[in-house]
Amino acid sequence: MRTLTSTMPPPVDLDAVDLADPATFRDTDLTGMWRRFRDERPVHRHPARGGRPEFWAVSRYADAIAVYRDHENFTTEQGNMLATLLTGGDSASGKMLAVTDGARHREVRKLMLKAFSPRVLGHVAEQIKSRIRRLITEARDRGDLDYAVDVAEEIPIGTICDLLGIPEGDRRELLELSKAVLSSDQDTPDQTEMVLARNEMLLYFTDLAEERRGNPGDDVVSTLATSFLTHDEVVYNCYSLIIGGDESSRLSSIGAIHAFAGHPRQWAALKNGDVTAESAVEEILRWTTPAMHFGRRARADVAIGGVVVPAGAAVTIWNTAANYDERVFAEPERFDLARTPNRHLTFGQGAHFCLGAFLGRAQLQAMVESVRETVTSIELRGEPEQLHSNFMYGYCRLPVTFR
Ligand code: HEM
Repeated sequence: MRTLTSTMPPPVDLDAVDLADPATFRDTDLTGMWRRFRDERPVHRHPARGGRPEFWAVSRYADAIAVYRDHENFTTEQGNMLATLLTGGDSASGKMLAVTDGARHREVRKLMLKAFSPRVLGHVAEQIKSRIRRLITEARDRGDLDYAVDVAEEIPIGTICDLLGIPEGDRRELLELSKAVLSSDQDTPDQTEMVLARNEMLLYFTDLAEERRGNPGDDVVSTLATSFLTHDEVVYNCYSLIIGGDESSRLSSIGAIHAFAGHPRQWAALKNGDVTAESAVEEILRWTTPAMHFGRRARADVAIGGVVVPAGAAVTIWNTAANYDERVFAEPERFDLARTPNRHLTFGQGAHFCLGAFLGRAQLQAMVESVRETVTSIELRGEPEQLHSNFMYGYCRLPVTFR
C-alpha cells in the first residue's frame, strides 16, 4: 500500500478511467485500479477523452518487457511519454537520446555512457555521501523537517550539476526549471510555463556548451561539446540529464522515507543490518516507481499479449503497474526490503534502459546508509503532499520528525 489513495474506491468502469488526467493519480485507489487493469484489460485501448486522442495502456510485466525490447515494431522518435505522444511528437526527436532510435542512438549512447561509467562516478559517490550526511545531520538536529524540501531537493540536482560542472549560483534556478518542466505541485499545471521552462533550460545549455567548447574542463558538458555531436544534440542531451537525473531520483528518496515511516519493522530490519542497503535500494525503486509510464509508437500492426495494436498507435507502458504484477512479484503490496528476486522495471528495459541507473542507485544507497547511521526513528508529522502529474508519482512535501 504505497499510495495515499488506497482508502478511495477503485474505479467501477475501466473505460471511464482517464490515465492522461493527473487527477486520476490523486483521486483513485491505484492499487485496486491497476490490479483490475492487469486482470481484465492488460492491453487496454484507452478511449479518446477531453480533446486527447486514444492510446493503449500496457500494465502486465511480461507485456511491458515485450514492448520495451521490441525495437523493430516500436519507435521513440514520435514521443516517449503521454505528454508528447498525444500532442504530435517531441521537438527533440532524433537529437535527444531518449527520443532517438537505431544507429545514431547507439553512437550517442556509447559516448554518454563513458561519461557515466562506474569508474567516472566512483568519486561522485563519495561526494554524494558527504552531501547527504551533512544534510541529514542538519535535518536530524532540527528534528522536525520537510524531508522533500530540506533534504531531498538538494541531492540529485547537486550531483548532476557536479557532473555537468554547473556553477553553484545557477543551480537553484535549474532546479526550479526542472520541476516546472516535468510535473507540478499545482492543481492546474500551466502548459505555457512548462514550455517556457524547457526553452529557458535549452538556452542555458546553448550558452554553457559554447563556453565549454572554447575552454573545456573535465565535466560532462565539455565532453559532449568537444565530441562528434551536433550543437543541438549537445544542448538537448545536457537538458535531458537534468530532466532525467533530478526529479525521478528525488522522488524515490522521498518515497523511501515515507515507506520507512509507514513500515517500522522494515525500518528496524534495515537499522539492525538484517537487510543490506543494496537489497533495500532495489525494493525502494520497485515500491516508489517514480516514472509511472513511458511510451512508444507502433510502426506496424503488432500483437502484445495476444491483442493486436494497429500501426501508428501510441502505446504506453505502465511501470507502476508492471512492478506490482502478482504474476512476477510475490505479495507485491508488501514493502519487503529483503525481496529477492526483484527485477523491477523502474529503469525500463532494452536499448533505452536508463543511462543514469548506476548513478540513481548510488544516490539512493548513499541516502539509505546515511539515514541508517544517523537516524533512530522516523515519524510522519503531517499529511504528505502528492505531485500533480500523469508521468511522475511521488510527494513534493513530506513533513517528518527524525530522532
Ligand atoms: C532513461 C527512469 C535516474 C538519465 C530512463 C528510462 C527510465 C528511467 C524508465 C527509460 C525510458 C524509455 O524507455 O523510454 C529513471 C529513474 C531514475 C532515473 C526511475 C531514478 C530513480 C536517472 C539519472 C539520469 C538519468 C540519475 C542522469 C544521469 C536518463 C537518460 C535516459 C533515461 C539520459 C535515456 C536513455 C536512452 O534513451 O538510451 N530513465 N531514471 N536517469 N534516463 Fe533515467
